[in-house]
Amino acid sequence: MDDAQIYAAIGEEGFQRLVGLFYRQVPTDDILGPMYPKDDLAAAEQRLRDFLVGRFGGPQRYIEQRGHPRLRMRHAPFPIDREARDRWMELMGHALDEAQLPPDVTEFLREFLAGVATMMMNRAE
Ligand code: HEM
Repeated sequence: MDDAQIYAAIGEEGFQRLVGLFYRQVPTDDILGPMYPKDDLAAAEQRLRDFLVGRFGGPQRYIEQRGHPRLRMRHAPFPIDREARDRWMELMGHALDEAQLPPDVTEFLREFLAGVATMMMNRAE
């Protein structure tokens, strides 16, 4: 399984389902809820979805609209310590479990997302 095969396997719909299931948990989360824009969560959902779609072989909407991802820089305003990183992965883990994507896709995405989440940490342990 390589990156471009993921979009071919799950399409727009698979990413939409996954990211929707993730964001559904955000507003009531005590760590992540306060970090995300309350009135504009749908737009945030769209940004993550478009990023993943483009990253895994689909249309390049994210780059067209937002430019180079520069994810570490874009996360710099948010205090992401180990606890916040682990919580993000916990919610994403629920989403991956619930989305019922093909098992090889689920495991590929879980590893990718965990690796990027670790890179987003910007506060000392
Ligand atoms: C480690 C824990 C993480 C935390 C606490 C976190 C938090 C946030 C927050 C608060 C935003 C702003 C919401 C918005 O208005 O778009 C954001 C944006 C974003 N995040 Fe994360 N994030 C994490 C990990 C990740 C990971 C692992 C990815 C990708 C694999 C990711 C991709 C993005 C993208 C694409 C955006 C939109 C950036 C933009 O265009 O402005 N994040 N994140």
